[in-house]
Amino acid sequence: MRVRGIEMASKDCVKVAVRVRPFNKRERDAGSRCVISMTSNNISIQDPRNPQNSRTFTFNYTYWSHSGFTRNKDGLFVPEEAGGRYADQTSVFLDLGQGILDNALQGYNATLLAYGQTGSGKSYSMVGYGPNKGLIPTLCERLFQSIRNMQDSRQCQVFFSMLEIYNEQVVDLLSKSNRSTGGLRVREDQQRGFYVEGLRRVPCDSAVQVEQLMEQGTRTRTTAATHMNANSSRSHMLIIVQLKQIFSKECVTKQSNIYLVDLAGSERQRSSGSEADRLKEGTAINLSLTTLGNVISALADMALGKKVVHIPYRDSVLTKLLQSALGGNSRTVMIATLSPADICYEESLSTLRYAERAKRIQNKAVVNESPTERLVKELKAENAKLLMRLSRLGQEGRKADDETKELRRLLTHNELQIRAIQTLWEQHLQEALKDWETQYATITQERRMMQMHPYIMNINEDAQLSGVVKLFIQEGEWDIGLADNSPRALSIRGLGIQEKHAVFSNQQRRVSITPVSGSKVIVNGVSVSKRIELQHLDRLVLGSNSTYLFIGFPSERSGEDWSRYDYDYFQSELAEAEGFHIQSLCEDQGHRPHQPDPSLLAVFYDYIKLMPMVTEANQMSKELKKGVEFKLEIKNLAMSDSKGHDLEKDIAVRVTSVESKQVWMWSKAKFVNRKFLMEEVYQQQVEGGEGADRAPLPRDRDPFWDPLEPLHLGSAHLWLQSVAFRIPLEEQVEVVGPEGTEEAILQTQLVPCSPMGLPLGEDDILIDPSELLGKRLDFQLVLDQCCGLRWVKEARNRGVQIGFRVFDCPQPLYTPAMWHNVNPLMDHRVQFTALRTSQELLSYLQSNALVLELWGLQEGCSELVSCMDGLKITQEDSIIIDKISASEHSTAENGGSDLSSSLRALHQDLEQLRNVNAALRKENSTLREQLNSARNGVENNRGRQERRSSLRPSCDAEFAKALKVFYHSMTSVRGQLQRLRRHKPSEEADLLGFRLFVDEHTYLLKDFSEQLEQCVTTLKQDVAAIVRRKREKSGIWS
Ligand SMILES: Nc1ncnc2c1ncn2[C@@H]1O[C@H](COP(=O)(O)OP(=O)(O)OP(=O)(O)O)[C@@H](O)[C@H]1O
Ligand SMILES: [Mg+2]
Repeated sequence: MRVRGIEMASKDCVKVAVRVRPFNKRERDAGSRCVISMTSNNISIQDPRNPQNSRTFTFNYTYWSHSGFTRNKDGLFVPEEAGGRYADQTSVFLDLGQGILDNALQGYNATLLAYGQTGSGKSYSMVGYGPNKGLIPTLCERLFQSIRNMQDSRQCQVFFSMLEIYNEQVVDLLSKSNRSTGGLRVREDQQRGFYVEGLRRVPCDSAVQVEQLMEQGTRTRTTAATHMNANSSRSHMLIIVQLKQIFSKECVTKQSNIYLVDLAGSERQRSSGSEADRLKEGTAINLSLTTLGNVISALADMALGKKVVHIPYRDSVLTKLLQSALGGNSRTVMIATLSPADICYEESLSTLRYAERAKRIQNKAVVNESPTERLVKELKAENAKLLMRLSRLGQEGRKADDETKELRRLLTHNELQIRAIQTLWEQHLQEALKDWETQYATITQERRMMQMHPYIMNINEDAQLSGVVKLFIQEGEWDIGLADNSPRALSIRGLGIQEKHAVFSNQQRRVSITPVSGSKVIVNGVSVSKRIELQHLDRLVLGSNSTYLFIGFPSERSGEDWSRYDYDYFQSELAEAEGFHIQSLCEDQGHRPHQPDPSLLAVFYDYIKLMPMVTEANQMSKELKKGVEFKLEIKNLAMSDSKGHDLEKDIAVRVTSVESKQVWMWSKAKFVNRKFLMEEVYQQQVEGGEGADRAPLPRDRDPFWDPLEPLHLGSAHLWLQSVAFRIPLEEQVEVVGPEGTEEAILQTQLVPCSPMGLPLGEDDILIDPSELLGKRLDFQLVLDQCCGLRWVKEARNRGVQIGFRVFDCPQPLYTPAMWHNVNPLMDHRVQFTALRTSQELLSYLQSNALVLELWGLQEGCSELVSCMDGLKITQEDSIIIDKISASEHSTAENGGSDLSSSLRALHQDLEQLRNVNAALRKENSTLREQLNSARNGVENNRGRQERRSSLRPSCDAEFAKALKVFYHSMTSVRGQLQRLRRHKPSEEADLLGFRLFVDEHTYLLKDFSEQLEQCVTTLKQDVAAIVRRKREKSGIWS
């Protein structure tokens, strides 16, 4: 189609709108805070961890749909009061949808994209839910209204197509034939650009028809999702509305394509892209989404005048199809949807950044118009010529019968062709209408059945797809499963579904389900193996994760809102049955309710989200005979925190080989990535069928496999405070695993020493650690023995290593590997030296612990090696820490830079001040002595003063000794406190269990307080004794 001319081309920037939705139930339950605020076209987002940190963006439109709304009697969400700030579906349509429609009617291509994280409201804005119709249905409604209003001036044809891009495959959602393997092909045509070959285009002439088609498309999407065990929020949904307007008088045809795109959840792009995984192809989780981001970035750079060599349109299916929408011939609008909650801050910020880039893109839209079809025109011209020749033949009166006949035949043929072209559209339309009527009859039938029988309906992670599949349980017995070969079978697909999975029975107005042995059926979170009667709104999980809501007899339904039984509800119920529930996060140590930390909530939600994925991965592993098992673990990040903070937690997936007992730990992102690849492998095998060639996947491409790596089993904390006092410490520390299990006991020592490595004596103990400042400090870490290694007890062919990192050491250091021994002797000694102890090091020693990480080795995995790069070593082989002071030290020798010389000056000042302070103190005490002697009239005070000063060092040594004793006993008290902290009741504890727990806890507490009491008493006694002795010696009481 020829465009009207280049002079018409104008630069249109992509228009961007943002919309923020209300809190969902989960966010409300968690007491989430809204981090988004809006004023006119500005939107601000606040960092929940650092409220001063707020970012503001400006867009063409901003929609506040978070609060200030009410549900009217028709079920529509509308502003609470007239003129309120709440943006409802109508106001969003008036800005965005109407604009798209106007553009299309003028002959421009128009695109509307919805971008945002899963559950942020893309489909709500695009498609809508129930009476709250979204942009697409309203746009179609208004389109047909406009067509009717303008039918005098033009003739219009509308074609509707709906497709899905899943894993780079195009699925025609309106096609009646079975999905072709590999999906439809995207081809390129010089004139049309990229298009989907063989995509069904359905002629339409009413909004109702469009709605029905969308329902049909959603149904296909739902079945595809269950058949492929795929998650729809990972797929992109595209609706293409082609509008052709024929202006007969002007002999002009205008044609515009409207692309309406509901993109996949944006977090898929981040989670797959950010994490390193051996199987990088997994980023195809959303190659389309990643490429879309790259295309947008490139175009935004171009708009900023940066040199852009290549725009990667061709890298993905989605960007091929959206080529004209982005930087091409289209007027484009993007709606970015946001969750308001604090826990979604990162995702929302990333969405806003994405939208910010998109608004820079410049398009060049032109009106697509051409003279009305050439063929019709040419045929008409030819007819005119033929008619002329015929009349000439008649005038000449010659008997040219044959020629006349031939000309008449040609004429008739041409006229038929013209008529055929004109009637083709009408014919298509009639066919579509007939087809539509059949569809409509099916839907009417289904509605009737819903009013008569109980049924189960599917609940999908994507709320758009929930309630699409309904299986009616009429009177009698019904088998449910994969099999569909009997009229009394309800056929379902899904992971872990057996041929005959369970039997439904509807007798005497009671419905029950009986699982077939070996099949998995969960009712309301509880696994069942026997017949169980179902109640209205019971939740059913069949197989790994096919979720259904049971709807009872019509008489049992009382108009309640079923929407609360969403996918989240099902998963939370399952998690709760496993003893993992949100309340447990909302209680502090004393079991008082409190507001949970957002990071803990994020972990909770991750757990809920990953749980069904882990179940599915296990099922796939079982069916494909991969011999690995997956298990979710909550990792306590306190394990690696040198201050032992107990807040941060993260989710990891433990992968265990059933036979070899080899273990891998996968991060959340890696697991999500792998799960996607597993689905692909599984799908190929399933599609391949029984007899198909099932060549085993090479190991390096197998998503179930990974090379073995050392595993972080747990950590122990060795507190460093004693080093600051130069007190030697000998301690047994417990290595605690991520879930609080005792992995081993480590016998360790911290030995303050001389530069040569000789242990210091008691006289070197410091009372005031600040005396260390600016001085050299040497100490040794001694790892004597590792006892009771659980890791090795489980399988003798394993080994361990200990890793640790001190202060500013750039890399961790590791002990040599110890294999096949539950209690290996290590005798590993490392010396550290601070050449001039800085305040930072001193503070670190006083408040931090040395984290000793226990690493598990498995046969065939490489050992961890200390990397000595960047480490400085003294002549005595001691590792230099506290580099700032060290560099200061060396620069002092070399003359130094400005900065370090001013630092040095400061240090000197400090030193001087300290000396002055000491002198003043001395003078002060002398004065006091003089005063005393004057008061008592005692002579010879001089000799006494000599005695006093000679007493001082020995007195300090006594204090130091007492402190050392106190410090040692405090170590065991601290151990007791840790044990107390970890001591929690078991999740399944009943009343008796709780009572036992409380008894035990009381005992531990008593023990702890006794120990503490004893420590303090000893210290008091010691100090009192020293003071007494001192006074006796100084003769005050004599
Ligand atoms: N503006 C809004 N007003 C009221 N409810 C909303 C709004 N936006 C979204 N919701 C609700 O939030 C839930 C999730 O929305 P929706 O299905 O649109 O998310 P989505 O972005 O399409 O997610 P996915 O990527 O999983 O498809 C739905 O139950 C929907 O009803
Ligand atoms: Mg959606």
